[in-house]
Amino acid sequence: MTAPANLEMQRPSPRAMDWRGRDVVSIRDFERKDIDAFLELAERFVPAATGQKHNTSLEGRILATLFYEPSTRTRLSFEAAMQRLGGGVIGFSDPSVTSNKKGETLADTVRIVDKLSDVIVLRHPKEGSARLAAEYAEHPVVNAGDGAGEHPTQTLLDLFTIQHEFRKIDGHTILLLGDLKFGRTVHSLVTALAHYSVKMILVSPPNLQLPEEVLHECRDRGATVEVTGDLEAALAQADVLYVTRIQQERFADPEEYRKVAGTYRITNALLKKGKRNLIVMHPLPRVDEIHPEVDASPHARYFQQAANGLPVRMAILASMLGGKA
Ligand code: CP
Repeated sequence: MTAPANLEMQRPSPRAMDWRGRDVVSIRDFERKDIDAFLELAERFVPAATGQKHNTSLEGRILATLFYEPSTRTRLSFEAAMQRLGGGVIGFSDPSVTSNKKGETLADTVRIVDKLSDVIVLRHPKEGSARLAAEYAEHPVVNAGDGAGEHPTQTLLDLFTIQHEFRKIDGHTILLLGDLKFGRTVHSLVTALAHYSVKMILVSPPNLQLPEEVLHECRDRGATVEVTGDLEAALAQADVLYVTRIQQERFADPEEYRKVAGTYRITNALLKKGKRNLIVMHPLPRVDEIHPEVDASPHARYFQQAANGLPVRMAILASMLGGKA
């Protein structure tokens, strides 16, 4: 996670990034200048994220993590981010041991937790849940995934990873592969990429294509988006291959899932058809869509991508709560 020396030298003087008191519910709430400022701020948190620098700028502040759906990376990286900034953490990762089990509504839970904390990070199976929580909370709310809706902080770390790799996001071709219908990370990512001069290529099973409204929104904003079934031709053009898991938990009919499970599998043989400096990203968790042999290849970036969640989420918490890099 240490910045390459030449990137350090090119880094512009820090822009003010103040998101104090604001929610992070949708990537649509971010203009390009906001995204760029977050990426720049996240870069400045790398030394504290890796333990090379001590930072207690959020001492005495409390983060609440309310996770109604499973998570490894998002919850733990938010909790680690808060602790690396000297703050405390409360929350749950299993709603069945909370008063949700007794029928308490999300709105009531948020009203109470809001009185106990300074910021709420929420993951919930229902689209729109983070927006609802933000209406009931006086403190800022972060959407850590709302059903098949959005996952905006994942997008910030995805963009951080691309920028770290190529020095810039503009000018690159991003191939998005897999479950583009239910994959909330993709919905947020393509919406954000529409701010940049990139080409997006979408490859998915026919019944798991990007929702029409998301595709139209990107194209209406002038983004170049190609939809194709020819994975190998798309791979030959790509600088970034962004793979996603088929989201089994979003299928109402298990038979429909079985029909598409295992449709794509990234292997070293397939990657030979791509560019030499192609990078493979994945929000994780993966199931079988990337063969483990790829982990040791020079293309794999998904573990570094996950690690980048820490400085990015430190930047998010700090900018919301007045912390310093
Ligand atoms: N990428 C992501 O959201 O991972 P988790 O589900 O483990 O949080």
